[in-house]
Amino acid sequence: MSDVVVRAAPGFRPKVAVILGSGLGGFATEVKQVAAIPYGELPGFPQTTVGSHAGKLVLGHVGPTPVAVLQGRAHYYERGRADEMKGAIDTLAKLGCETLLQTNAAGSLRLDMPPGSAMVVTDHINFTGVNPLFGECGDGRFVDMVDAYDPKLVAQMLAVARSVNILCHDGVYIWFSGPSFETPAEIRAARALGADAVGMSTVPETILARRAGLRVAALSLMTNYAAGLGGDKLGHEQTLAVAQGSEATMRRLLRLFVEQYA
Ligand code: HPA
Repeated sequence: MSDVVVRAAPGFRPKVAVILGSGLGGFATEVKQVAAIPYGELPGFPQTTVGSHAGKLVLGHVGPTPVAVLQGRAHYYERGRADEMKGAIDTLAKLGCETLLQTNAAGSLRLDMPPGSAMVVTDHINFTGVNPLFGECGDGRFVDMVDAYDPKLVAQMLAVARSVNILCHDGVYIWFSGPSFETPAEIRAARALGADAVGMSTVPETILARRAGLRVAALSLMTNYAAGLGGDKLGHEQTLAVAQGSEATMRRLLRLFVEQYA
């Protein structure tokens, strides 16, 4: 599965894998590139159907840190499969990655996190009832999800943000299946359950990454107030427009975090 990568970048051993979410693919330009491979050439990698996701694996360095950047992810809502990213994540683990850093666009459930805010994920709620490990055999499927989002990496993200005066919140991400947005009643329920941000990704990848033994960090960009909390009409264009407006800040925060990754 990883043969194609090994051939494209002989001897290259990435330490940090990065999955870039909607409108946040530009981080790939921060990478001093060794190779770039379209997902289509990588067995087990997903075919992405969301236009803003490029579908490319970029290998290279950010500062001193060797990285494997996935420009685009596949979502559960695309084909009704929660394990879309399994092949990709298992390949990243096999290549030697020790950490998976994810980004995503999300709706904010907190009035003190307006659109444009960043939030590092401290924990998640899987509200979909599905799991990417359905159908797996063996005791390895019973994955411990305590500290799934590595507390040390959370602290590092917050410290990096503070050091350059970027406001970064922390909180709980709740996974809804999409592709329709949530109803206001669902968002009230999510709030009562303790969620701070809502989105349609990240959680299955975190489960798969923990299964593969990777440390996980995730950074959410609030692109809107969640349904019923703000006046704005929700839609993918709105997600992309806000993501574009905040991309430079997100990119800087990610770059500093990856550069300083020990
Ligand atoms: N809900 C779910 N996913 C999202 C949202 C939202 O409000 N905004 C961006 N991605």
